[in-house]
Amino acid sequence: MKRGSSLVVEDVCKTFGHGADEHRVIEGLSLRVDPGEFVCIVGPSGAGKTTLLRCLSGLTRPSSGTVRYGDRPVVKPLADIAVVFQDYRGSLLPWMRVRDNVAFPLEGMGIKRAERRERAEECLVAVGLAGVGDKYPWQLSGGMQQRVAIARGLAYEAPVLLMDEPFGSVDAQSRFDLEDLTLALRAKLGITVIVVTHDIDEAVYLGDRVVVLGGRPTTVVDSLTVDLGAARDQITTRADARFTDLRTRVLTRVRMAQAGGEPKHTEAPDAARG
Ligand SMILES: Nc1ncnc2c1ncn2[C@@H]1O[C@H](COP(=O)(O)OP(=O)(O)OP(=O)(O)O)[C@@H](O)[C@H]1O
Ligand SMILES: [Mg+2]
Repeated sequence: MKRGSSLVVEDVCKTFGHGADEHRVIEGLSLRVDPGEFVCIVGPSGAGKTTLLRCLSGLTRPSSGTVRYGDRPVVKPLADIAVVFQDYRGSLLPWMRVRDNVAFPLEGMGIKRAERRERAEECLVAVGLAGVGDKYPWQLSGGMQQRVAIARGLAYEAPVLLMDEPFGSVDAQSRFDLEDLTLALRAKLGITVIVVTHDIDEAVYLGDRVVVLGGRPTTVVDSLTVDLGAARDQITTRADARFTDLRTRVLTRVRMAQAGGEPKHTEAPDAARG
């Protein structure tokens, strides 16, 4: 796996619609994510989290401002940036076997059939789904389907993985398993991971840093470093006083932002963070 570059968002605004329908969703948002970092983005429903992730992935162009990956402007999807979408049910193709669902995006990258198959199998093994390649998505549980969606994200072998509410629609136990799987994959592959979630506990459990979105239109209202070390455990980490302190701080920030009382957090995109 090649080492990735920093993903830098500078003063991004996003407006939808025209004329009387025009509404600004994101306003003056700046953010920098360094190679190998695990950043969780939290914010209220409808705040523009998916819109931001689409801008980060090159699927949507900001109305103004820039997104850069290293020295490249992100103006279209890049092979270095993989995305796991919010709704796996809508993103897996029901008529395609699991293996083909995972391998499908690689076709457009000009990768030969044998290698596509091999990579798909490897990624299914990585997410704990060895041996299910011949099945169809609808033959699997929700948690397993979400693993397939993650496997497809991994198949790109991209140094950056963006995930939008990746565990939102699975049961609590599967969610814990998938969180730990994501942490393990990040540790093993050294990739940059950005997870959008509205679950504050999950954000603190997973992240090296939690970025809080808020305001109308949305911007970054805070960025909190999670000083819990790299090794996390569902029982001991969540019971740690530092964990509960952090979740309280993040929740307070989110509430303040919802109430409109939080000033914009400014972070010079290229400045070193403390
Ligand atoms: N293509 C679009 N055209 C018009 N408006 C859009 C479009 N995409 C998003 N929006 C609007 O932008 C706002 C933010 O939507 P977005 O999906 O980014 O929010 P979100 O924070 O991901 O929400 P959720 O937590 O529910 O997933 C919403 O008001 C939505 O209606
Ligand atoms: Mg969303």
